[in-house]
Amino acid sequence: MTPQTMAPIMPPVAETIAQAGHLLKSGFLVGLPTETVYGLAGDATSDQAVARIFAAKGRPSFNPLIAHVADPAEATRLAEVSPLAARLIAAFWPGPLTLVLPRRADCPVSLLASAGLDTIALRCPAHPVARAVIRAAGVPLAAPSANPSGRLSPTTARDVAEAFPAEKVALVVDGGETPVGVESTIVGLFGEKAVMLRPGGLARGAIEAVTGPLGDAGDDHDAPQSPGRLLSHYAPGLPVRLDATRVGPDEALLAFGAEVPPGAFAVENLSPEGDLTAAAAHLFAMLRRLDRSGAKGIAVMPIPAEGLGEAIRDRLSRAAAPRGEAA
Ligand code: TXA
Ligand code: MG
Repeated sequence: MTPQTMAPIMPPVAETIAQAGHLLKSGFLVGLPTETVYGLAGDATSDQAVARIFAAKGRPSFNPLIAHVADPAEATRLAEVSPLAARLIAAFWPGPLTLVLPRRADCPVSLLASAGLDTIALRCPAHPVARAVIRAAGVPLAAPSANPSGRLSPTTARDVAEAFPAEKVALVVDGGETPVGVESTIVGLFGEKAVMLRPGGLARGAIEAVTGPLGDAGDDHDAPQSPGRLLSHYAPGLPVRLDATRVGPDEALLAFGAEVPPGAFAVENLSPEGDLTAAAAHLFAMLRRLDRSGAKGIAVMPIPAEGLGEAIRDRLSRAAAPRGEAA
């Protein structure tokens, strides 16, 4: 895409926020920074705006969207908030936790955003620019990650602008690099039972301190699954090889920790100190750079499963999955 056809990037000043709010109220799409990744936002109460999001991403319409609110108290207007849900909201909102809850009968969010399910995914982001834009729009915003369906998630405004032309995305608000770097953790609440639907930017241990052990979506057939959890996702252009302890001369290496095998075509280190929070923040940007390095494939060193390592390993295993099952 030439700079003329790319979606325009604007600094997060008051005029930009007001313009973004106006565009969103008029049904247009806006690229929005959150603390996790950039979102492709539209008015969640408008069928037309929600349809535009699905079309712009090339996303299958059976895969529902998260509705973003600026104020935790908004949840009770959109969903049935159980006592356990209220405790999670009090503990973690605003922040990188999405809750899947039963929709209220009078929920104003487009049924298209829920893909026809009787549940709704809600999130109150912590990023001040995201909250300012939601307030300016005056409606909940449906916002999937702002990447073409199946590809790497965006962590800078430029990633969004390069992926979407101005006809599809009216404006990208520049909030700098997203600090968390992986998507929100998604927890489903079915009765008083909490189920992990997607590991993400809030570590399991923090959530389980409130809920007790989380159920696993895979082993409970009564719990609705996350329809977007298809195998191939978050994929760079190059093939990805996991748990590499050696590397070939035509491979790019995504390293972790201090002991890096020699001989790679190119190297990025998620965290030489072995810090998983730092590694999550760097994950998508480093995969993008290695994808452009000219190597023939990307080899990834083993990542421990604790803390944010669970989300990193989830994203990498989907990046390495056979292609053609993208969502
Ligand atoms: O951090 C994030 O969550 C980012 C930022 C922009 O907020 N958003 C994001 O959205 O990752 P998206 O659309 O890329 O992923 C949302 C996931 C999908 O896997 C979808 O299937 C699931 O949430 N989801 C949405 N509504 C659901 C529902 N009612 N029940 C189960 N899963 C749902
Ligand atoms: Mg996504």
